[in-house]
Amino acid sequence: MASDDWRKSYEQTNPDDAPPPAEADDSGLRPSPTLERMKQEAAMAQRTKQHLGAIKHKLIVLSGKGGVGKSTVTVNLGWELALRDFTVGLLDADIHGPNLPLLLGVEGLHASATPEGIEPIDILPNLKVMSVSFLIAEDNAPVIWRGPIKGQLIKQFISDVDWGLLDWLIIDNPPGTGDEPLTVAQTIPDADGAIIVTLPQEVSLMDCRKAINFARAVGLRVLGVVENMSGFVCPHCNQPIELFGVSSPGELRGGEKMAQEMGVPFLGKIPMAAQVAAMGDAGQSLVGPMAPEGVREAYKRLTDRLLIEVASL
Ligand SMILES: Nc1ncnc2c1ncn2[C@@H]1O[C@H](COP(=O)(O)OP(=O)(O)OP(=O)(O)O)[C@@H](O)[C@H]1O
Ligand SMILES: [Mg+2]
Repeated sequence: MASDDWRKSYEQTNPDDAPPPAEADDSGLRPSPTLERMKQEAAMAQRTKQHLGAIKHKLIVLSGKGGVGKSTVTVNLGWELALRDFTVGLLDADIHGPNLPLLLGVEGLHASATPEGIEPIDILPNLKVMSVSFLIAEDNAPVIWRGPIKGQLIKQFISDVDWGLLDWLIIDNPPGTGDEPLTVAQTIPDADGAIIVTLPQEVSLMDCRKAINFARAVGLRVLGVVENMSGFVCPHCNQPIELFGVSSPGELRGGEKMAQEMGVPFLGKIPMAAQVAAMGDAGQSLVGPMAPEGVREAYKRLTDRLLIEVASL
């Protein structure tokens, strides 16, 4: 089973779980653990180069606060790009709360390994996903791994998942500016940049500023800010209603104002709609005909704006 191979593999590369010293060979010499580690790291760097070299654009989704909609944005950007005939991979770097499988309707599946690497799970012929939950035998088992092991797993995801040729790889992260986004940013130094998701409330904007400064500190370009749950889709007229009332012409608010102040692009607003949570739980996309129109159109505008931003790099 692939999960056991993976567990062994990253436990062996973790200092605290290092295997016992190798047996001496016929010459009586033991292989040097440092040399073995250097060889493993060199092999991993080579595989990372090979697999990432087949991917045109890499996007890293971040937020300062939890629950603002990063995973929902990741998945629906993925669906929309796939609808536009791009080939898309989605990588779940949220080790403790991997939600992409549920949002894509493939929870409980297991990934398999081939000599070329770990096989992602196909959602469509041109949309694939990889998540730690595909490597764990039990669905509800909590992942209790320390920082170095999580970092090693993320590095191995990036080096060993055999995506094939991709136009876009979108990487969903846990909230905040901890180990996982740091490892992702350091392992993919040529990423196009970060998409930072926030809510319109100051309590979320505060943390969003920190996420922008984190991206800057690790040398990651900020492609832009997305304001999620920025208002309501009216259940009667289906039109978006601003959360903080109508703004006067030219007046910037919430995420848009904060993006301007921080000197980063604003990619757009996605309204709140009652159906979104149930549709996410059922693995349904928010860009198809079943989605509330205001949300669907917002994702289309967000994707248009993102493509413009990336084309301008
Ligand atoms: N536009 C929206 N309207 C209504 N509900 C939404 C919207 N976007 C996301 N949600 C809901 O908000 C909840 C949190 O979304 P999601 O899991 O995508 O956030 P997250 O930032 O990835 O969370 P975490 O930080 O825990 O990873 C989910 O139940 C989701 O369905
Ligand atoms: Mg999430």
